[in-house]
Amino acid sequence: MSDEKGSLGLGGKTIELPVMQGSMGPEVLDIRSLYGETGMFTFDPGFTSTASCESKITFIDGDAGVLLYRGYPIEQLAEHGDFLETCYLLLYGELPTPAQKADFDYRITRHTMVHEQMARFFQGFRRDAHPMAVMVASVGALSAFYHDSTNIADPTQRMIASTRMIAKIPTLAAMAYKYSIGHPFVYPKNDLDYASNFLRMTFAVPCEDYKVNQIVSRALDRIFILHADHEQNASTSTVRLAGSSGANPFACIAAGIASLWGPAHGGANEAVLKMLEEIGTVDRIPHFIARAKDKNDPFRLMGFGHRVYKNYDPRAKLMQQTTREVLRELGLKDPLLEVALELERIALHDDYFIEKKLYPNIDFYSGITLKAMGFPTTTFTVLFAIARTVGWIAQWKEMIEDPGSKIGRPRQLYTGATRRDYTPINKRS
Ligand code: ACO
Repeated sequence: MSDEKGSLGLGGKTIELPVMQGSMGPEVLDIRSLYGETGMFTFDPGFTSTASCESKITFIDGDAGVLLYRGYPIEQLAEHGDFLETCYLLLYGELPTPAQKADFDYRITRHTMVHEQMARFFQGFRRDAHPMAVMVASVGALSAFYHDSTNIADPTQRMIASTRMIAKIPTLAAMAYKYSIGHPFVYPKNDLDYASNFLRMTFAVPCEDYKVNQIVSRALDRIFILHADHEQNASTSTVRLAGSSGANPFACIAAGIASLWGPAHGGANEAVLKMLEEIGTVDRIPHFIARAKDKNDPFRLMGFGHRVYKNYDPRAKLMQQTTREVLRELGLKDPLLEVALELERIALHDDYFIEKKLYPNIDFYSGITLKAMGFPTTTFTVLFAIARTVGWIAQWKEMIEDPGSKIGRPRQLYTGATRRDYTPINKRS
């Protein structure tokens, strides 16, 4: 808290509100006393000017295109680190020593299997269910299988639940995919790293040896790093809100997955690929750009724009690089990459997009990369959920461990009917 105060004149009265200073980023006006002092609420649907919590985990400067996890630039983590190291960093606040890293990798690896009863649970789904529907249900169902880690007041149980979720999410994701194509589930193999294990559980079949392509595995690991956390986005805020009532962590993460599914959030990677396929060829781009600019057309350029980034999303730059690496390694030439690059070039020179500061976001290139790796479109958001699980958990833990945290309970501007008396049904026309 700084000594500075902001003053607000309302109805002839002036009230003083404390100004809070973070370690980086804009100052924040503390309005907690506003209702008590004035009887007024603030109105900010969509939280465009509202900090919903205090956090030490992730920092974004959207104007400068900067993303830091616990102070470390995303570019450095993506280049030098691995996903489990990033998980450790997000959860514990510091990069691990070699011994801490080895212990963490061991703990995550030893929790990768899911209760065998979960496999039966899967049998109830339709084969054509969207994998995100299966993920919402199966992650929520973990709380029915792991009662011994649902007491949120116990720090040991909190950490076991966290480890379980990071470890088991790839297993559930691979099971959701295998189930949809009628293949047998592939058990985790604990001598593989996190990304390789997931690739194997997804693509191996019992009748053939599966050899993990190390370049693809490294690229997937980097994709996980890029998606690991993004401060108070819609799904993370959902996790925090669900957790603020004391709900168990598995249920909270299931709520986060549900929120991530939407096309304005994590579902955009799937929507981008569908859009690129619909555009099809470079010569059709101007038509779609015109549609995106037309106020009467609901069409938007998917993978473009961001609530916080008003500059190039730093993750999109790294993702574009990863896309090229993966296509080169696999010897693929995807015409959709050509469409994407040209779409980006045209949009970045178009006044509409320049004025509104609409740049490619992380989802713009991730779909092409995941498609090249062999993932079907419907699994793209699932991969996002795998990576974001650690961010959700780190944010959930931070909230639970903050002695000042309260149940999240926004207020409203009521615009419905004023008080009126009940009319019996026979008197209604
Ligand atoms: N294409 C065309 N116009 C756009 C786009 C777009 N992709 N995004 C925003 N705009 C326009 C809006 O029409 C609006 O114009 P107006 O001021 O004339 O009404 C203006 O830019 C601001 O847009 P908002 O929707 O108010 O911005 P908001 O911050 O609420 O939304 C969002 C951000 C949801 C990401 C939006 O840019 C969008 O829908 N993008 C496409 C979906 C997408 O890529 N989502 C992934 C986000 S990243 C992630 O979750 C990992």
